[in-house]
Amino acid sequence: MTEQESKDQKCDRRTFMTGGGWLTALLGAVGMAGLGSVAGLKPRVLPDPSAQFKIGPPQDFPVGTVKVFEEEKVTICRDSEGMYAISLVCTHLGCIVTYNDSEQRFDCPCHGSKFTMLGKVTKAPAPRSLDWFKISTLPSGQLMVDRSITIPLGTKVAV
Ligand code: FES
Repeated sequence: MTEQESKDQKCDRRTFMTGGGWLTALLGAVGMAGLGSVAGLKPRVLPDPSAQFKIGPPQDFPVGTVKVFEEEKVTICRDSEGMYAISLVCTHLGCIVTYNDSEQRFDCPCHGSKFTMLGKVTKAPAPRSLDWFKISTLPSGQLMVDRSITIPLGTKVAV
């Protein structure tokens, strides 16, 4: 390589570093920022299961039943007056309450709220009762819970 060729090559590198190189770096940075923005648009939580779900025939729920449907975050109860579906989502900050069989109530593990078997708050900080969901009977005789429809607390389904 001659001295002149070597200067030309250095000049090319210099030109690249001062001109084209910076442009390439800038475009790369813009591209990465764009990818970050697109990634930010993706939902970061898993979708909830369907709002409606079948729970079986009424015979599966004799008086005294308390059956927890963990995935759906609902408990189905049946007492002498009928059946009802209570949300297990705490009305304070959304933790999942657990059924306390020995105390016959629902307890929230996060901040200590407590609820009666009917979902009424007996200990704060939960600001209100647990939601009640609609239960309907399908033509097949199966019962279905619809978590998209809340009903007034105490509205039991006679079965
Ligand atoms: S989330 Fe249940 S008491 Fe806070």
